[in-house]
Amino acid sequence: MNSKHYDIALLPGDGTGPEVLREGVKVLKAAGKKYGITFSFSEFDYGGDRYLETGKIITDEEVEELKNFKAIYLGAIGHPDVAPGILEKGILLRLRFELDQYINLRPVKLYPGLDCPLKDKGPDDIDFTVVRENTGGLYTGHGGVTRKGTPYELATQVMIYDREMVDRCLRYSFELTMERKKEGKPGRLTLVHKTNVLTFVGDLWFRAFMDMKEIFPDVETDYNHIDAACMWAVKNPEWYDVIVMPNMFGDIFTDLGAMIQGGMGIAAGGNINPEGTSMFEPIGGSAPKYTGKNVINPLATIEAGRMLLKHLGETEAAAAIEDGVSYACTKIKSLAAGKMGYSTTEIGDMVAEKVSGASTG
Ligand code: IPM
Ligand code: MN
Repeated sequence: MNSKHYDIALLPGDGTGPEVLREGVKVLKAAGKKYGITFSFSEFDYGGDRYLETGKIITDEEVEELKNFKAIYLGAIGHPDVAPGILEKGILLRLRFELDQYINLRPVKLYPGLDCPLKDKGPDDIDFTVVRENTGGLYTGHGGVTRKGTPYELATQVMIYDREMVDRCLRYSFELTMERKKEGKPGRLTLVHKTNVLTFVGDLWFRAFMDMKEIFPDVETDYNHIDAACMWAVKNPEWYDVIVMPNMFGDIFTDLGAMIQGGMGIAAGGNINPEGTSMFEPIGGSAPKYTGKNVINPLATIEAGRMLLKHLGETEAAAAIEDGVSYACTKIKSLAAGKMGYSTTEIGDMVAEKVSGASTG
């Protein structure tokens, strides 16, 4: 038994964020107790309610303070009374950028017991991970607008990448593919881009990929255009192992991924800075209409907690959570809010109990 200790920042956020995060923390604590890991949790109230009360989104000092934590565990950001984009850009995207979380890791794995919308596909077919580049591309805010409001209004938003941004993302992806290969996965890395149209930035990615491949001869490599990748993910998802792509393509592709793994109720992601503070979150939104009803599904948040532990190197504890989530997936009727056959807290309890009862190896 080890005795590790971690400082974790909790950002419950808006809507159902606090309810699902409570269950996630419950499961982390259960795993901690079982595997000799202790946590100090510090909670921060950044989100829509605080913004409406104080006008503050998140201050420079608050961003700095978050850098002191080993990891951030986030519920959800997005408030019905705040215009779209203010909180998402002001909190979520700002943290991804300022903490230099240049990887957005989004596993797409179908747990047994969940319905898959793809005909004749099951858990054996759907188990891949998307590495979405997370601080560049169309998200950098490069561009501008002139002649605004006139019939000749002109706007640009530029897909920005430099070689180092591409290289560090590819290096992470190759290393991840090697790790998965050790776990018995195919060891195949697919680059997704649109080199037939984005002949400058696509070419940069493609050449960087070919160069990096030389350093990782044991990784099998492949290339797909983004439109074709969407098609293959539906037609032959079993082909994919690790897929790396630029920010905007990854944003779009991982919503498709969330659906084929059962739905937003199970999809989680990690915003990773391998050298700094990483942030783990359910991919879905704050679902405000379900707030306080104890009907929302906490499994995506619990999954985010599993990723957090895995990221910290607590592989046994993470595996125990995976078993707990897997078990819950065979019990629930649906991932949809109000249709699960269990309440939010009951699902949290179910996973926590399973984790507590796990046999230690
Ligand atoms: C996501 C979200 C965010 C993104 C939004 C809320 C800014 O869609 O995490 O996928 O575009 O990255
Ligand atoms: Mn998205």
